[in-house]
Amino acid sequence: MSVRPDPTPKPAGSACRALRGRAASLSGNPFLAEGCLDHVEDALILIEDGRITSFGSYSDTVDRVPPGVPITHYENALILPGLIDTHVHYPQLQMIASYGEQLLTWLSKYTFPAELEFADQVHAERVAKLFFREILGAGTTTAVVYCTVHPGSVEAFFAESERFNTRMIAGKVLMDRNAPEALLDTAQRGYDESKALIARWHGRGRQLYAVTPRFAPSCTAAQLDAAGALLREHDGLFLQTHLCETTDEIAWVMDLFPDRASYLDVYAQSGLVGPRSVFGHAIHVSEDDFCTCHAAGAAIAHCPTSNGFLGSGLFRLFDALDPRRPVRVGLGTDVGAGTTLSLLKTLGDAYKVAALRGTKLDALRAFWLATLGGAEALRLDDRIGRIADGFEADLCVLDLAATPLLGFRTGSCRDIEDLLFVLMTLGDHRTVRATWVAGECVYDARRPNDPLRYP
Ligand code: GUN
Ligand code: ZN
Repeated sequence: MSVRPDPTPKPAGSACRALRGRAASLSGNPFLAEGCLDHVEDALILIEDGRITSFGSYSDTVDRVPPGVPITHYENALILPGLIDTHVHYPQLQMIASYGEQLLTWLSKYTFPAELEFADQVHAERVAKLFFREILGAGTTTAVVYCTVHPGSVEAFFAESERFNTRMIAGKVLMDRNAPEALLDTAQRGYDESKALIARWHGRGRQLYAVTPRFAPSCTAAQLDAAGALLREHDGLFLQTHLCETTDEIAWVMDLFPDRASYLDVYAQSGLVGPRSVFGHAIHVSEDDFCTCHAAGAAIAHCPTSNGFLGSGLFRLFDALDPRRPVRVGLGTDVGAGTTLSLLKTLGDAYKVAALRGTKLDALRAFWLATLGGAEALRLDDRIGRIADGFEADLCVLDLAATPLLGFRTGSCRDIEDLLFVLMTLGDHRTVRATWVAGECVYDARRPNDPLRYP
């Protein structure tokens, strides 16, 4: 790399930066149209005040680099937009890889005990720090995140996100039944605590708030209605919850809400199915449910490693994205039911789920899911998910020779599609050479001592 020494750290967003290397970015939805890839073999990306101001070939645009600005040159690498994880539970880092259960017993045996520990603020801060180290080292720059029922877990999360200046969406879990007493709030307390967190964090810098009823079995109708009231009372809030992950869970929901037409209808009746709603899993949904999501502009987070690990089922990705009524879909790791925070590995599993359904997830569609598709699912596609003028400069740089095998295999790739497919099949956190957030390099795998750095 022909990098000059890092300049003295400046406040986030105030500097001019230039990156050189091979780069690729989706400019549209390859499930709906062809020719959506911007690929430049030798690109220059210019960044000012945390935003991309120029993306083009090095030879055509090098004159735009202001004098004195160093050019960070990534050789044998691929620069992509920062990856977007649309469904993950940071408190579950502690019990990822827990053996032998399906969803409902997995929750009571492993998940709830781990979440109880977040009553301790020091613990919450420690896990939040670890979470950011792991995701930034995996090339993820935006995530939609479940905290726990404790407001302090949200505080710890956003405080760490603010230090990195990452664009994050997160919220306090709402649960007023069917969990250990110490993890329960009430409809009123959940509403009040969420409202206070919204006032403190929603729209502060790059932080955004998601109202977070865990799932219908852990919320009374009163609590779901209170979540709906929060959404009506504040602009731009997100809603995240789980939907139709397993057949046992669906049967339980229909017992608890016998008057509702479907699991999704439970949420719809409380005003929770809207343009910033993100439903985790949606494996066992009906065609009617897909139509409802399409009409409402609601999104689904496809979480293939989780669905395989818990034996929940195979998501119908190509049905969801049917061009006749496409539903917005992003990719989720869903740690700790998911088995990795790496979205590269998650794409590898998405390919396998599609294959088990008799379909083929090609590399362009896959990388769209992990970048611009995720941004569209979150309605943030005017600012993240692309390398393009005006977009926030969140980038990940993949090392094409991160391991001897990867170097050997990528050396014989015929074209960019082939290369991307190899990266999603063999790639993991070791493949990430660097991660840039709002124009600052926060992770550099080759930085001595500590590759992570606050901007
Ligand atoms: N459904 C309700 N809570 C959870 C959770 O924490 N993880 C998963 N995978 N599904 C859920
Ligand atoms: Zn989940």
